Amino acid sequence: MSLIKSKQRIADHGEVFTPAWMVEAMLDLVKEESERIDSRFLEPACGSGNFLVRVLKRKFTAVELKFGKSDFEKRQYALLALMCTYGVELLSDNITECRAYMLGAFAEYLNLSEGLGIIWLLPTSCLRISRMVTR
Ligand SMILES: C[S@@+](CC[C@H](N)C(=O)[O-])C[C@H]1O[C@@H](n2cnc3c(N)ncnc32)[C@H](O)[C@@H]1O
Repeated sequence: MSLIKSKQRIADHGEVFTPAWMVEAMLDLVKEESERIDSRFLEPACGSGNFLVRVLKRKFTAVELKFGKSDFEKRQYALLALMCTYGVELLSDNITECRAYMLGAFAEYLNLSEGLGIIWLLPTSCLRISRMVTR
């Protein structure tokens, strides 16, 4: 993904996304927390989720290590991981993308298909990516 969407958005909202290698290096600074299933992360300007998605993937790796042998526990703890990961963002298209990428990571980890319907229920129940009101 490109690190910028437009010059106008940079000027208006300071929107420049963080490259994957830098996200990983920054998360390594809080490695233990980023790999703890129930640690809470709040990204106050989450964009399309570059940090939140990587945090989620680290948590899913921890879920797999601890609970990978039980489908029931795997689902429970993957959901817990998702519910501990929050974001705030100004621009609605970024919020939509962020939710989609986070749900995509969740579905991929649990091998969920859209047919199960769970993916479409999750945004309202578990994904707390909110729009910040600044005025
Ligand atoms: C520098 S980008 C960083 C995005 C993401 N954290 C990343 O590292 O890829 C800053 C983000 O903050 C958002 N933003 C700007 N002003 C904001 C505000 N007052 N409240 C919430 N988000 C804001 C922008 O829309 C943009 O997506």
